[in-house]
Amino acid sequence: MRTAICPGSFDPVTLGHYDIIKRASNMFDKVIVGVLNNSAKKYVFDKDMRVELLKKSLSDIPNIEVISFDGLLADLANIKNAAFIVKGLRALSDFEYEFQMALTNKKLNPDVETVFLTTSAEYMFLSSSIVKDVAKHGGDISKFVPKSVLSDIERVLCRGK
Ligand code: PNS
Repeated sequence: MRTAICPGSFDPVTLGHYDIIKRASNMFDKVIVGVLNNSAKKYVFDKDMRVELLKKSLSDIPNIEVISFDGLLADLANIKNAAFIVKGLRALSDFEYEFQMALTNKKLNPDVETVFLTTSAEYMFLSSSIVKDVAKHGGDISKFVPKSVLSDIERVLCRGK
């Protein structure tokens, strides 16, 4: 059984995340989507909502489990018996940070391999921050987030408008 973890903040999930997770689900028997809940970080979407939005948008993919975690990703991989971490790479600018994380995770848990998937071209520009910024300024985010959770995301981001 080959299990991979797709970790992230997912604040909120985007079509870029969906694309990477879907492709990972074709490569591994099981994909665990690990939603980081770092108490030192401020999120727009709380932990439960980030998990719910992922569960809803990934409901068409059978071999997915969505969980939240805090602490080290390398420890989560150990607990969940996952030998792979899957990350998406959008551009060269992602590389240095991702390389540093992959090497750190390898030191912390030598049994785990980080696998990078190049982002699909149409999502190269996309990030959760971009979604939040566009929505904040009244823009249309329907091309950026999964359709099944668009209204949930808009409800939070357009609150008070
Ligand atoms: O979506 P993000 O915020 O870029 O995801 C970053 C994430 C969750 C992959 C990274 O912050 C992480 O793995 N955090 C867990 C803490 C950890 O393991 N740190 C040591 C490795 S750098």
